[in-house]
Amino acid sequence: MAGPRAASARRSGPLLAACSATVGALLLPFMVASAPTAAAAPRCDSTEDCLAQMTLEEKAGQMTQVNHTNVMDDKEAIAEYGLGSLLSGGGAGPGGEAGGTATEWADMYDEYQRTALQSRLGIPLIYGVDAVHGHSNVVGATVFPHNIGMGATRNSKLVRRAQDITRQEVLGTGIDWNFAPAVSVPRDDRWGRTYEGFGEVPRLASKMGYASIKGSQGHDLDSESVAATAKHYVADGGTTWGTGEDDYLIDQGDARMSEHELRKIHLPPYRAAVRADAASVMISFSSWNGLKMHQHEYLVDDVLKGELGFDGVVISDWAGVRQVEGDSYADKLRKSINAGLDMIMVPDDYEQNIEAIVSEVRAGRISEERIDDAVRRILDLKFDQELFDKPFTDRSYTDDIGSPEHREVAREAVAQSQVLLKNDGVLPLSPDSGKDIVVGGKTADNLGYQMGGWSISWQGSGGDTTEGTTFWEAVQQETEGTDTDVEFVGTDTGQDFSGDVGIWVGGETPYAEGFGDDGDLQLSEDDTKQLDDICAKTDVCVAMLVSGRPLIINEELKTADAFVASWLPGTEGAGMTDVVFGHERFTGRLPVTWPSSVDQEPINRGDGQKPLFRMGYGLRN
Ligand code: GLC
Repeated sequence: MAGPRAASARRSGPLLAACSATVGALLLPFMVASAPTAAAAPRCDSTEDCLAQMTLEEKAGQMTQVNHTNVMDDKEAIAEYGLGSLLSGGGAGPGGEAGGTATEWADMYDEYQRTALQSRLGIPLIYGVDAVHGHSNVVGATVFPHNIGMGATRNSKLVRRAQDITRQEVLGTGIDWNFAPAVSVPRDDRWGRTYEGFGEVPRLASKMGYASIKGSQGHDLDSESVAATAKHYVADGGTTWGTGEDDYLIDQGDARMSEHELRKIHLPPYRAAVRADAASVMISFSSWNGLKMHQHEYLVDDVLKGELGFDGVVISDWAGVRQVEGDSYADKLRKSINAGLDMIMVPDDYEQNIEAIVSEVRAGRISEERIDDAVRRILDLKFDQELFDKPFTDRSYTDDIGSPEHREVAREAVAQSQVLLKNDGVLPLSPDSGKDIVVGGKTADNLGYQMGGWSISWQGSGGDTTEGTTFWEAVQQETEGTDTDVEFVGTDTGQDFSGDVGIWVGGETPYAEGFGDDGDLQLSEDDTKQLDDICAKTDVCVAMLVSGRPLIINEELKTADAFVASWLPGTEGAGMTDVVFGHERFTGRLPVTWPSSVDQEPINRGDGQKPLFRMGYGLRN
């Protein structure tokens, strides 16, 4: 059982605060209506002091998180309703568009914060974002390999360093809450969120999740921390194929398993997250044996908060409350809050959310104690992060976003994430061997493909969407000034060309969440043809698979002389050439079992099936 997170000195306020509640409630109708433009300074100085002064409406406001696009044209609503939190959902940059520079993000954050401080009690916002592999919404930020690649490194110290850099880059935009790490344990590679997990066994998710949380928050929460979020509670990676929500095939589906299996496979990463003092836990869209997690009182209140002792903030997923059974929004919301959810990512109709909380409390269907517990957790987090004293962006971090030093660490992570599956004496190449190298494939010179989903936009996209180095650019840098000729054929591999060494880079195009659910796990025909062409027209050939998960590569593995699983490397493609050209040794090991057929899915270590490659496999050179 974890002890309480290091309490900030300002969580419990003066006894006098208790008597101010009555005064506040009597004056409220006049005060909120005229939302004074009072000095932008908080008017309560501890959790208990704020709670004692807050009206029920204000408490409901604190529990309400809104996607910023819903208030960017009506910022006054933030103060009028006392909203507790805003977020940028995937791709919701400044102005509501994907992208934006760090300064534009910081200016956006500060403007929202200034407005929040105009509320009656001047309680600052806490602002959430999905910086799931670096601050990947922001143009120019350092984008690390997605978690599956970080899992392949088996290097938790590197995960912590990477997350510490992400922390700095997130702080440089003012933001103070990261909806990461996913501590999912993906058990079926057909799931579109497989790449968001560190691997198929709880030990990897626990070890890397712990490191990530510490990297983001530091030893104790303070103004230098970014609050971490262990997600998605619980067994989001254990859902059954064909049970997906709406049009999804498995995402947000039903985890059909015994409690023993749930506790053995999917719960341990949350024990680790509590040990790491995770500031928040996000509830999964999925269900356990038919009951939605967003209404699961036993697993959320009894197990997470009670048995595991989690004392941070439990937040819903995006409109997750709406998936709960119920006759009305208020009915659904009541079930979620009574199950133990503290912050509701609405993320749009904040008035409906606030009104529903107030009406359910007034009807006696949600207790005031439950509301106070939720608001207390939220305010404790804001005081722990010193948001009342330092609500605005620390611009000393902004200039270092995407710095060479940060990118160097990402490059190191890329190199350590590469898993060598086959090598018939080809790798490493020598940069000055004098051999002619031909590079092709759809991903060889495509930064967007190299990053995958959750990159600038929610789903990700091809092309130069941010600053980074593609594999082809890295090959050119590597061989510049040597007598090695390099030629780029891209996807036009039907043309005449020849070479001593061919390198194909291909695989998956970007996707996120259920849009990545895939029942085939096949390479495209174009990919296979391009690989075949390159290997037919060069003396030896190397295949670099850029994907968020294992794909069925039996034939391609025979065609290529060397085969590398590159995962989704991010902006630093030079990490790939570092191992291809021998500056770093291949040390990566599979974080998941690699199937020989999609019919084997779900396939995991110890299930008795014979895979193409076992989890943990990886050649060294
Ligand atoms: C999404 C995801 C979750 C993310 C949230 C906010 O639907 O499920 O991982 O943190 O919404 O973007």
